[in-house]
Amino acid sequence: MRARKRKNTPERIQACGELYIDRESFGDFFKGDIPVHLEIGCGKGDFVVGMAKKHPELKFLAIEKIPDVAVIALEKVRAEGLENVRFTCMDAFELPEAVGDYKFERIYLNFSDPWPKKRHAKRRLTSEVFLDIYKRILSKTGEIHFKTDNAGLFEYSLESFTENGFELKNTTDDLHNSEWAEGNVMTEYERNFSAKGFTIHRTEAFLKRE
Ligand SMILES: C[S@@+](CC[C@H](N)C(=O)[O-])C[C@H]1O[C@@H](n2cnc3c(N)ncnc32)[C@H](O)[C@@H]1O
Repeated sequence: MRARKRKNTPERIQACGELYIDRESFGDFFKGDIPVHLEIGCGKGDFVVGMAKKHPELKFLAIEKIPDVAVIALEKVRAEGLENVRFTCMDAFELPEAVGDYKFERIYLNFSDPWPKKRHAKRRLTSEVFLDIYKRILSKTGEIHFKTDNAGLFEYSLESFTENGFELKNTTDDLHNSEWAEGNVMTEYERNFSAKGFTIHRTEAFLKRE
């Protein structure tokens, strides 16, 4: 995502107070019995806002590597007065070190950058590199929920999941006309692409259980 450079992003993030946490504060947020769901690459935050409103019984951690984008998400959460969401700016590469022993019940990957060139395949959030990271931070019963408009990325991801020890369920090439449409929370990209006539692919990946 190309983000417009904004001068006052640090001040705006600071104005969102405790909604922004750094890794030193993860421990406090993870404390207790309420499961934390993780969204990687939250963009401008429509998904995490929608999910947090719909599921007050859960907590959500949203990570985004571009602060100029994350700040928009943070301000949406502040405007909605939601208390069960926290944000941090980091690259998904840093997750294992940042979260320590914590295991997430759910990871959401929504409209991840497709990186279409073969030489950039490792940067895809469903490449082996990242799947190894998710294995370290996902609970035994955890799931990765993935959706994209990009047929090439989807095909690659289905293969990558299965080659790396994940099983798949609830897979569709047309989410909005499927049994999972009801209850689906849309992202900004999802709204834009479906308005342009693209169908949305989605799947759920979980680690093979012995
Ligand atoms: C195509 S946008 C999709 C945004 C949003 N999820 C949506 O569906 O509308 C992908 C987002 O993921 C972020 N991103 C890409 N790679 C990332 C990484 N390795 N770690 C954290 N964020 C990442 C990008 O900065 C961008 O904001």
